[in-house]
Amino acid sequence: MISSQSGTVREISLPQIRDARGDLTFVEGMEHIPFSIARVYYLYNVPAEAERGGHAHKELEQVIFALSGSFRIKVSDGIDTQEYWLRDPAKGLYINRLIWREMDAFSEGAVCMVLASHRYDEQDYYRDYEEFLDVVRSKQA
Ligand code: TYD
Repeated sequence: MISSQSGTVREISLPQIRDARGDLTFVEGMEHIPFSIARVYYLYNVPAEAERGGHAHKELEQVIFALSGSFRIKVSDGIDTQEYWLRDPAKGLYINRLIWREMDAFSEGAVCMVLASHRYDEQDYYRDYEEFLDVVRSKQA
């Protein structure tokens, strides 16, 4: 189970307002997710064989949604690994800092939306898995 000090992952359910005209879901920073939203980005036109992610963050927190279609996301704190399938637009996956994530198996037309706690900063990334492992192991020691 991934639950170390900074590396935490959990599912988040958003409000869902349903009527005959369709479903509506909304999200407010600091209310439904534990940070204020500094950035939103989304992945689309993702080929079925593509692998996205493959990194961890030093400070960034994110919540990831499948707004349409589905995909798989694997997360690791350097010790334990868990796998989630995202397919419900009202259910997101909160990923704290220091969690390695990989996404694949995107369905046709899948849209992955990410709410992020900070603006884009390449310096905040660990893109090398061995470097990530060194960092989390040194924190756990
Ligand atoms: P990358 O982080 O590799 O995407 P993913 O982890 O989803 O597979 O980002 C791909 C490119 O897009 C990379 O050159 C950085 C750039 N980028 C931005 O300029 N702004 C952003 O907010 C994000 C997420 C990426």
